[in-house]
Amino acid sequence: MRRTGALAAEVLIRACEMVRVGVATDAIDQFVHDLAVANDAYPSPLGYRGYPKSVCTSVNEVICHGIPDSRVLCDGDIVNIDVTVYREGVHGDTSVTLMVGEVDEHSLRLVTQTRAALMAGIGAVRAGAPVSDIGRAIQSHAEKHRLGVVREFIGHGVGTEFHAGLQVPHNYDRNATTVLVEAMTFTIEPMLTLGSPRALMWDDDWTAVTLDGRRSAQFEHTLACCSDGAEILTQTSAGETAHALFPNPIT
Ligand code: MF3
Ligand code: CO
Ligand code: CO
Repeated sequence: MRRTGALAAEVLIRACEMVRVGVATDAIDQFVHDLAVANDAYPSPLGYRGYPKSVCTSVNEVICHGIPDSRVLCDGDIVNIDVTVYREGVHGDTSVTLMVGEVDEHSLRLVTQTRAALMAGIGAVRAGAPVSDIGRAIQSHAEKHRLGVVREFIGHGVGTEFHAGLQVPHNYDRNATTVLVEAMTFTIEPMLTLGSPRALMWDDDWTAVTLDGRRSAQFEHTLACCSDGAEILTQTSAGETAHALFPNPIT
């Protein structure tokens, strides 16, 4: 999981290096596909439950699972790039939201605080804690910054399966009583919104957008539960992440 997580982190960083005004999301998809294959990995999204591409690219009001196409990134956009790779029998799943060019102040707050909300969720992980502690920390951070928390999509167990049994809500859910155990591997991937967190699905059956059309941001890591906290598996062997490398608008 550590090795595959490091590869996912590396692929995400390289994909982020492509982001600039005028790049089509399709070009990012092609790049992620080829880089995964060149590293003896399979891009997990490709063919997953009929998903047609190798990466998800979710722009502006798209909450998640945006399908890459000929749309080019424009000045002022925000885009989430969600990479999952499969190698050595396991998946690594990680995503960041990048700001393209000059973004408005609300988008800057949304992106910055969604990254911080993921870190708050990670900070709540420890063996013996109920999984609801994670959502409690994320929701509390979101509320402090007047951001909505999407409920339709949640973190998940990950390992030999892309989406394994464990469910990780990003809001406080009193019914999420599963107790975290050492060596459990799962994702935390909060989606926060500037307006209402209510979601709508496009008729492609993948693209999830906000009902009110306002923007949404998402950050994701694959983690291992340890006795005293979480280990972030989706970082390079040098400890690099796209999360830390791309905190500012790309100009
Ligand atoms: N990577 C997404 C997640 O974080 C799942 C994408 S499923 C796909 O769980 F089919 F759209 F790729
Ligand atoms: Co995930
Ligand atoms: Co993902």
